[in-house]
Amino acid sequence: DPAPVLTIDGPSGSGKGTISRLVARRLGWHYLDSGALYRAVGVAAGWGDIDLADPAALVRCTFDTEVSFREQGEDLHVLVNGSDATLELRTETAGAAASAIAAIPEVRAALKDRQRAFRQPPGLVADGRDMGTVIFPDAPYKVFLTASAEERAERRYNQLKDKGVSVTLAGLLREILARDARDASRAVAPLRPADDAVRIDTTGIGIDEVVERVLALLPATG
Ligand code: C5P
Repeated sequence: DPAPVLTIDGPSGSGKGTISRLVARRLGWHYLDSGALYRAVGVAAGWGDIDLADPAALVRCTFDTEVSFREQGEDLHVLVNGSDATLELRTETAGAAASAIAAIPEVRAALKDRQRAFRQPPGLVADGRDMGTVIFPDAPYKVFLTASAEERAERRYNQLKDKGVSVTLAGLLREILARDARDASRAVAPLRPADDAVRIDTTGIGIDEVVERVLALLPATG
């Protein structure tokens, strides 16, 4: 039998990243941040001065971009072509580039096997937009996290403020709504819950509570 997978999909700011990492740690499972792969291609495209309106060049860039993850204490570092790009990956520029690149079918196809390779014993927590629908449709455990756009903008705002990045709440809300619309309306792998996903609305709920609700979906261990 293949290793079990818990997919956690949802829009940006739904808390996916934080929840997925904590759940993976609690289970002792591997963790896939699939958005980081798209962001890495976006960052590499920027380094290579590649036009975001040139799909063929972006597909080549996808094949040429090496991405690896490294746990460093509490933090997960992302190396793009050997360079630590952890901070650059989190910028709105990288997010917007990722979202544009993610709409190209050949890019998604090129990243499919790389994502599936993370499925290793004892299990995988996979975080993204299409983990439960496209990449791991046979996953035994699927979650779809949501939160109001206002709350997601506020969370992003606080994260970025902590990092010393200067942004406005109104600007972030606009970007989040635009990105949601783009991710939900694209032809390939649009953001939508898998039919068999459990939906959890995290608006007004603390991180620990969400982690417990997700863990409650899995059979008790130990
Ligand atoms: O989750 P994160 O914000 O890091 O993802 C960045 C962008 O990458 C998303 O806006 C989305 O367009 C794209 N993405 C995707 N499929 C995934 C993960 C991310 O299309 N599985």
